[in-house]
Amino acid sequence: MRQIWITKAGTPEVLQVREAPDPEPKSGEVRIRVEASGVNFADILGRLGIYPDLPPIPVVPGYEISGRVDSVGAGVDASRVGRDVFALTRFGGYADVVCVPVGQVFDRPAGLSALEAAAIPVNYFTAWQLCVVMGSLKRGETVLVHSVGGGVGIAATQIAKHIGATVIGTASAVKHAEMRALGVDHLIDYRTEDFEARTREITNGRGVELILDAIGGDSWKKGYRILAPTGRLGAFGISAAASGKERSMFGMLGLLAGTPWLQFNPLSLMNANKGVFGVNLGHMWSEVERLRGWADQLLDLWRQGAIKPKIARTFPFDEAAQAHHFIQDRKNIGKVLLVP
Ligand SMILES: NC(=O)c1ccc[n+]([C@@H]2O[C@H](COP(=O)([O-])OP(=O)(O)OC[C@H]3O[C@@H](n4cnc5c(N)ncnc54)[C@H](OP(=O)(O)O)[C@@H]3O)[C@@H](O)[C@H]2O)c1
Repeated sequence: MRQIWITKAGTPEVLQVREAPDPEPKSGEVRIRVEASGVNFADILGRLGIYPDLPPIPVVPGYEISGRVDSVGAGVDASRVGRDVFALTRFGGYADVVCVPVGQVFDRPAGLSALEAAAIPVNYFTAWQLCVVMGSLKRGETVLVHSVGGGVGIAATQIAKHIGATVIGTASAVKHAEMRALGVDHLIDYRTEDFEARTREITNGRGVELILDAIGGDSWKKGYRILAPTGRLGAFGISAAASGKERSMFGMLGLLAGTPWLQFNPLSLMNANKGVFGVNLGHMWSEVERLRGWADQLLDLWRQGAIKPKIARTFPFDEAAQAHHFIQDRKNIGKVLLVP
């Protein structure tokens, strides 16, 4: 098999393809011939050496794949061989052959392409947990989605529009026209405009009922201030820590200095009628049965045409470094995938 390794912490060029013998599925696992592997921002933080969940480098990153089952381990029904599937992987997804516990594997319905399927698990489960499970977004409410042009941002926009909410999105200006066409009601270029002031303006001073913020640091502080009464802030990432293509103490310190360590205490939350919650899909491994329920609901929405993964671009395994550059250069509108 071919795998993409993070050989050491550093620029995208530290990603290297290496060959190894095909793995054999263990008891309770299936082996999948991979057609596409999802690239996530967490992989970039891992490559920078600032992602605490990543096993020690050198390591093969990767949280999700799609492909076809070609072998099963002990205790797994042999009828699974030949099925088209997609799966969550606990690292190791940047590979053309992957063994995965059956609980993390989902049948791919006819009509859903292998590329689209690889774009579902991380982005859509995260967006579902943020908007529906913990964010309780309702028809008529307004949600502010940061990095709205990214994989999670587009998934969240589709879910929010299906619910009947108004979406305010932040994104680099070059993405605004396309994001408007994808259903975002109001766009803010947060790199040249103050998103706090613009959100107040757009909502006539009222603020928003839900914020999805994976920027972190100061952004959480500002977001908390523009929550309307009963508003919820969902914290789910620290993109701000990736201030460059190599690890930067400056970026980490800026993030830590901006983080509102003291603002969200029980008394202030109570008196402001606001909520703050966190989401980390990578810490949901004990809840895989619930994720399966979310997958059923998401695939129903896909069948209805309410959600549709948007692929920004695919890169061959040999160009994995280019895939990371593409995201860090803020060029992606939608999901970036690696194809063997
Ligand atoms: N907690 C979880 O379970 C979970 C799951 C999935 C993702 N996440 C987090 O959600 C965020 C989005 O993830 P994603 O995989 O969907 O990636 P993504 O949105 O495709 O990320 C790329 C986009 O993020 C924006 N961005 C903001 N700060 C950036 C920075 N410092 N460097 C480069 N780009 C930056 C850029 O768009 P603009 O310039 O247009 O804003 C860029 O195009 C990440 O922070 C990720 O870690 C968390």
